[in-house]
Amino acid sequence: MKSYELQGPDGAEGLRLVDRPVPHPAAGQVLVRMKAATLNYRDLLTVKGGYGSRQKFPLIPVSDGAGTVESVGAGVRQFAAGDRVVGSFFENWLASEPSDAKMHAALGGSVDGVLTEYRVFPAHALVKTPPHLGDEEAAALPCAGLTAWSAVVKLGGVKPGQTVLTQGTGGVSLFALQFAKMCGARVIATSSSDAKIERLKSLGADVTINYATTPDWGKKARELTSHGVDLVIEVGGVGTLNESIRATRIGGTIAFIGVLAGPPPANSRLPLIVMQQQRLQGVTVGSVEDLQAMCNAISLNGMKPVIDRTFSFNQVREAFAYMASGAHFGKVAIAIS
Ligand SMILES: NC(=O)c1ccc[n+]([C@@H]2O[C@H](COP(=O)([O-])OP(=O)(O)OC[C@H]3O[C@@H](n4cnc5c(N)ncnc54)[C@H](OP(=O)(O)O)[C@@H]3O)[C@@H](O)[C@H]2O)c1
Repeated sequence: MKSYELQGPDGAEGLRLVDRPVPHPAAGQVLVRMKAATLNYRDLLTVKGGYGSRQKFPLIPVSDGAGTVESVGAGVRQFAAGDRVVGSFFENWLASEPSDAKMHAALGGSVDGVLTEYRVFPAHALVKTPPHLGDEEAAALPCAGLTAWSAVVKLGGVKPGQTVLTQGTGGVSLFALQFAKMCGARVIATSSSDAKIERLKSLGADVTINYATTPDWGKKARELTSHGVDLVIEVGGVGTLNESIRATRIGGTIAFIGVLAGPPPANSRLPLIVMQQQRLQGVTVGSVEDLQAMCNAISLNGMKPVIDRTFSFNQVREAFAYMASGAHFGKVAIAIS
């Protein structure tokens, strides 16, 4: 089978297409013929060794994939050949609270990922693909989808009538917008691009702010609500946190997810988190149980992930370069077979 392999932290340029034997599913395992993968910002970091000492080489990169069951090992009853499936980001975080042990096996980081024609998964790490989704759409669910689900639904507890602020138009943020709308919330969505802002509106964003031309977008968001937003999807990190604190109501929540905005600004408002009794909620993807709950909601609501562009299996480096350019709106996909 063809697989992409990294011998070291050499970036996307170091990706090599290699031949590996098709693995056999042992007891409790499932052999999946991978059909599609999608890229996350994390994949841009992991190909450069972003997982540090936990990262092994040679490594098959990329965490998020979907495919079709080829065969199952002894004792596997819940899946059969032909079932369409999605793999969990953390193979061994099945349910409840995370722990070091549950988060040890992270696809495309500490264990092989999905940029390969076949992959063996433990049966407990798979869920069935929502039937209305294509393989590329399904491949968007494990990291970006589930992180947004955890931030908005599981940890954010968003209720109808509340206001959620999303930052930018990457994978996590667009899922968060869609889940917030599914919950009946009002969404204030930001982007650095007026063209992308038009697309945010068609996805259901109630209010939009160009964060490039309105650098005090947190103040603006606060003014647009009577008392501040209930939840911020913080994908920028410390570089955007000041404005997020400004945007958030007393007692509100900041779902702390990403690092897109770089180093911390001067005059940090971090002390206000204490004075305003705001909750800074760390989010780390989610469990298999959460993945199943999200897929149920996606199926029931007929929700479709936003796929910006699909590259072929021999255009993987181009896909990484496109993702790194930030030109995308939603997910960048790779068709595997
Ligand atoms: N904690 C977790 O479990 C977890 C899981 C998934 C992702 N993450 C993290 O979450 C972040 C987002 O991941 P992703 O895969 O969704 O990224 P992505 O698809 O690469 O997002 C890129 C987009 O983010 C927006 N952006 C960039 N810098 C920004 C800034 N300073 N302020 C606001 N928006 C900005 C831009 O949107 P516009 O072009 O519209 O401006 C850009 O196009 C990453 O840092 C990733 O590592 C964490």
